[in-house]
Amino acid sequence: MKYEAGIQQERAEKRSRIIEYLHKVQDQNPQQYLTEDKLKACAEEFNLTMAEVYGIAGYYSMFSLKPRGKYIIRLCKSSVCHMMGAESIGDKLEDLCNTIFGETSQDELFTLEFAECLGHCEKAPSMMINKEVHGHLTVEKIEEIIENLKK
Ligand code: FES
Repeated sequence: MKYEAGIQQERAEKRSRIIEYLHKVQDQNPQQYLTEDKLKACAEEFNLTMAEVYGIAGYYSMFSLKPRGKYIIRLCKSSVCHMMGAESIGDKLEDLCNTIFGETSQDELFTLEFAECLGHCEKAPSMMINKEVHGHLTVEKIEEIIENLKK
């Protein structure tokens, strides 16, 4: 039993180091995504197959396999935010950012993504722009935020 627990622990630690590595290389890319070269380097570094690396990178929504915009806007779609009007916020974001959820605007300024609960339900509806949380969103507030980012 102890042996099995040790193996599990070792796997969890390795996975955690891989995730840390992928975060680091993604953050270093101005287009905020994991390139094929970086995924290959990860496979070599951790002695994994490419399928294993793709499996990890594809599992976590914070990793992207395609180029993203300067501002990654992650709108919470979980229940509290949904009840507090996230849908109309999402519609307004698509209008203002000239793109749709899951895509990046042609000017490469905005990427719109949905997120599960961001842990800021008391500020619902909430979203993150890169690493900053914005809450108590209204259509008017969204207009102001996006216009400021366009400047
Ligand atoms: S439900 Fe949206 S932040 Fe928790």
